[in-house]
Amino acid sequence: MKNYKNLLALVALLALPAAGALAAGGGADLKPSGANINDLGSLQRGAQLFMNYCMGCHSAEYMRYNRLAEDLELGEDMVMKNLIFTDQKIGDPMTIAMSQENAEQWFGKAPPDLSLIGRSRGADWVYNYMLGFYRDANGGWNNTVLENASMPHVFWQLQGIQEPVYKTVEENGVERQVVDHLELVEPGSLSPEAYDDSMRDLAAFIDYLGEPAQLKRKKIGVWVMLYMAFFAFLAYLLKVEYWRDVH
Ligand code: HEC
Repeated sequence: MKNYKNLLALVALLALPAAGALAAGGGADLKPSGANINDLGSLQRGAQLFMNYCMGCHSAEYMRYNRLAEDLELGEDMVMKNLIFTDQKIGDPMTIAMSQENAEQWFGKAPPDLSLIGRSRGADWVYNYMLGFYRDANGGWNNTVLENASMPHVFWQLQGIQEPVYKTVEENGVERQVVDHLELVEPGSLSPEAYDDSMRDLAAFIDYLGEPAQLKRKKIGVWVMLYMAFFAFLAYLLKVEYWRDVH
């Protein structure tokens, strides 16, 4: 009976890291993106969107094109021809030409490097951010996830134009208007479902960008867990053997 309890404790201990991984992340009020970095097709589509629509303003300087080509099984020629729009070389990091000073002048705030945004903000945040652009009363862009973002809505032609529907909330006896939900007032070239799918792809790519090693790590991880389970079992047998003499 005592041994049985010890074994249970061991199993619980082994399961701890997994529970921790599940508990981490999250974030309030974000719609789950469903981004899956093990879906190669999704990552490839995400990469294409990223290079076409984001790298005008954002760099991803911790990533090199050739690593991208290899990890996403794109082929270096394909990346050179279709995804690099400047005179950069295949071994170069994904930097951009825009200077910080110019960017600040144009947008009021320099667009941050997006290499690690998947880690600091998370894929769900990015996904919701890309779904959350709306046209406010002044005719400018605003965003439900990042209020008063100085980034324009780069996908408005694809998504169409959303406008907010407000609701009144009371906080400490003071009433104020907050965005309840967004309404599509002008359809874009993509259906809302297709736009969602594209943003899921983009979020998956940004997740990958934040931690490229997780592609390999997750595959190796399964074997590591099996290996540990096997050795835990061996250790248990050994313990039973030792204690037999003690008792
Ligand atoms: C026209 C320039 C421009 C383009 C193109 C652009 N962005 Fe931005 N982006 C900005 C600026 C400026 C900010 C800073 C916004 C702020 O903090 O107010 C920003 C901020 C962000 C942030 C928030 C960073 C943070 O944590 O505060 C994310 C995420 C982001 N952009 C993702 C993207 C993605 C993905 C694309 C491509 C689909 C893209 N951006 C295209 C200018 C741009």
